[in-house]
Amino acid sequence: MFRFFPQKDKYIPETSLYTFDPAGAIPQHIAIIMDGNGRWAQNRRLPRVAGHQEGMNTVKTITNYASKLGIKVLTLYAFSTENWKRPTDEVNFLMQLPVDFFDTFVPELIKENVKVHVMGYEQYLPAHTQDAVKRAMDQTKDNTGMVLNFALNYGGRAEITTAVKAIAAEVAQQPELADTVDEEMIAQHLMTGFLPREYRDPELLIRTSGEERISNFLLWQIAYSELFFTDALWPDFSGELLETAIASYQNRNRRFGGLDKEETT
Ligand code: FPP
Repeated sequence: MFRFFPQKDKYIPETSLYTFDPAGAIPQHIAIIMDGNGRWAQNRRLPRVAGHQEGMNTVKTITNYASKLGIKVLTLYAFSTENWKRPTDEVNFLMQLPVDFFDTFVPELIKENVKVHVMGYEQYLPAHTQDAVKRAMDQTKDNTGMVLNFALNYGGRAEITTAVKAIAAEVAQQPELADTVDEEMIAQHLMTGFLPREYRDPELLIRTSGEERISNFLLWQIAYSELFFTDALWPDFSGELLETAIASYQNRNRRFGGLDKEETT
């Protein structure tokens, strides 16, 4: 695993065990838990929201970088169903960020052929956030490149609960469906169900800021994801670090519960 040690204001890889191979396996779907904005701001004696503001700039950088690498889906955890517990000022700031982000970045997203999607309980977001999200999705709906998928007011357990309820309602209407409930049916009812089947589950999940937990993110979808943790705080995350994460992924041995070829002989 890679470890990044804080220098004054940037993170330098302690060691580079793997080299990124642009011609090697590139994950089609990458999911990121963008953590550490608050600590980034604190380290500079700035208010926490300054970290979120800088975090938004990193989202722009990483979106462009991921799109150029040929990644098909980039899912970013922008606001969890638990983040409402934060102070009102911070929540208000976080709800304004998508508005500022899309206002300033949609032309570039269109140029880059990126399609915006938002998954989460959008109906509980403030009206101005909902409007910005809908506008961005509409303005980029014909784009055919990378899907930039924001998890906004998203929670993995809530998502599974909603899917189970929807399936239960369908079964109540048509009891014979009970026998047809399978993994594919459940996957279709999750918030990633809008994605083509081959892109629904991230091959690689990245979490920044040194925390090594999943925090209720994509619980079903990450069953076989490779996990990559870095000490870099989200505002310090960079294209180079994204390549480091992919380099690590390229050196994993993905068996999906099976055996290597040589082990079967
Ligand atoms: C976690 O860091 C980060 C968040 C809860 C918000 C993430 C949001 C962004 C990166 C900007 C999103 C941009 C758009 C366009 C929606 P933290 O505040 O928990 O950091 P800490 O653990 O250091 O306190």
